[in-house]
Amino acid sequence: MIRLDKFIADASSFSRKEVRELVKRKAVTVNGTVAKTPDMKVDERCDSVSVNGKNIFYRKFIYLMLNKPQGYLSATEDDRDPVVVELVPEELKHFAPFPVGRLDKDTEGLLLLTNDGQFDHELMSPRKNLYKRYYAELDVPANEEDIKLFASGMQFKEFTAKPALLEIDPDDPHKVYVEIAEGKFHQVKRMCERSGKNVLYLKRVAIGKLKLDESLPVGSVRELTAEELAIFGR
Ligand code: URA
Repeated sequence: MIRLDKFIADASSFSRKEVRELVKRKAVTVNGTVAKTPDMKVDERCDSVSVNGKNIFYRKFIYLMLNKPQGYLSATEDDRDPVVVELVPEELKHFAPFPVGRLDKDTEGLLLLTNDGQFDHELMSPRKNLYKRYYAELDVPANEEDIKLFASGMQFKEFTAKPALLEIDPDDPHKVYVEIAEGKFHQVKRMCERSGKNVLYLKRVAIGKLKLDESLPVGSVRELTAEELAIFGR
């Protein structure tokens, strides 16, 4: 059970102060009855709350899929560059979502945003061994030797990469898919460079079993579905 004003403030863009005003104006109902006080207790699992006749669905956390465009930083604020949270629709901004992990400024594709710190922590944990899949276009065609090199677990200054998968497009070996477990700074680019290739274009297409929704336009955000959340035990 939580206070009515907290319920509404958590689940909408109304502040607690605004909720008090709305209650005074008899604009808030609980299970169809006009609420008398903002501090009344409601059950967030089963009580039906509405403001100005519109139902408010309780939730504290939000989980968003962004098809990240190039040119945006995976951050909540920056003095110079645009940041991914600017792409969150106005009506969801009050949840204050932040990016889960990072994609480079020039990388496109699947980026999750949430306000659930535990979710962020779980996904980022190295123990989770969550493979991320990328599509890359290279300046030089990839070959069988590269597949072996990626699978061997490359050594870098600050870490040793777990065996990574490299898949080469049989129609055009400049196009590859890479699956890595870690997600260290510039990892895919560094691994490709190690094999003598430069990445010209990079896009994340999956995190574990969660695939980028290819029907989501670049720069757009949508909430994860119940099925997608279930992938991560939510
Ligand atoms: N690897 C990179 O090099 N860049 C990214 O944005 C993600 C993985």
